[in-house]
Amino acid sequence: MIPVCEPLLDEKELAYVVDCLKTNWISSKGKYIKAFEEGFARYCGCKYGVATTSGTTALHLALASLGIGPGDEVIVPAFTMAATVFAVVYTGAKPVLVDAEPDTWNIDPAKIEEKITGQTKVILPVHIYGHPCEMEAIMEIAKKYNLWVVEDAAEAHGAEYKGKKAGSIGHVSCFSFYANKIITTGEGGMVVTNEAKIAQKARLLKDLAFSPEKRFLHTSLGFNYRMTNIQAAIGLAQLEKIDDLVAARRHNAHYYNSLLKDIPGITLPVKREETKNVYWMYGILIEDEFGLNRDELMARLKEKGIETRTFFYPMHQQPAFQAMNLFKDEKYPVAEALAQKGLYLPSGSGLKKEEIEEVYKAIKEIKGVRY
Ligand SMILES: Cc1ncc(COP(=O)(O)O)c(C=O)c1O
Repeated sequence: MIPVCEPLLDEKELAYVVDCLKTNWISSKGKYIKAFEEGFARYCGCKYGVATTSGTTALHLALASLGIGPGDEVIVPAFTMAATVFAVVYTGAKPVLVDAEPDTWNIDPAKIEEKITGQTKVILPVHIYGHPCEMEAIMEIAKKYNLWVVEDAAEAHGAEYKGKKAGSIGHVSCFSFYANKIITTGEGGMVVTNEAKIAQKARLLKDLAFSPEKRFLHTSLGFNYRMTNIQAAIGLAQLEKIDDLVAARRHNAHYYNSLLKDIPGITLPVKREETKNVYWMYGILIEDEFGLNRDELMARLKEKGIETRTFFYPMHQQPAFQAMNLFKDEKYPVAEALAQKGLYLPSGSGLKKEEIEEVYKAIKEIKGVRY
């Protein structure tokens, strides 16, 4: 089976983890936490990094650090992974959806303003599958209405927009280090920001809001979102090779593009001018012209030992949110179409040239294309 994604771990990760075990620094204090937080923040072009237990908790922590809560509204894309919207719901704020752009699959900036009300506090763009959002337009809207921008960069380590790294443009940003991410800590996440006050608040809240003056005195409602030194040790080893991991993702995507571009009925991922797409996942759309629908293609690829995944189901169609009476009767046609037509192919940084060729040949065979 060619898997959709596998982490790439080697001797470095092993050595750093063994160091944690040998020195007894296995919990959330230790040198790897500091080194990973500082190193990853620097990589993103940010001053501060606050490591967390996951991308989901990083999002919750970022919103909590901005003081977002009941009565507030947060603008989120209809096409995203549900964790983005879960984090908003955890704070008690109301998520408000905006449809996607048909080509980048990211939140459509042209549709944001119509959703802004007196309660809106945050715009939360998500860099879908590694392609950066139109951040200039988003930042302009945020400035006009005095809103925070929280980037969900869970899928976009190393992506760039007009020379700036994803995660360094909004006021605060969140990353995931789940095992399928461009760099991983097994489970984990990070809040990054250039604003000292936000970083300070995030650091306090993630550690149960222990008062710095008197331990066991808590000045606000805190969370235990502490990453362990062992996770950070893996993260640091991964960070030391992040350029290679990103380059492999991009190289693989370009190779897929060069092979798949001539097969009718497949829409390839785009890369806008002045952006660097890191192709966290290599997503394609299966159009009517292809002859088989997306689910049929996925089933046939599975028979041939090739693992794929569907795109995300839109947020307004998620039973979890319907049960909360959210997004009732709302329609987001672009997100709906993406969910029906989209799939991603094996995309890991360790994917081999021959494996990409095998995927291409399988798709060609399934479609019955003769060359
Ligand atoms: C866009 C997006 N946001 C948030 C998350 C949540 O990250 P985690 O799984 O680390 O909680 C993910 C995870 O895949 C994601 O893709």
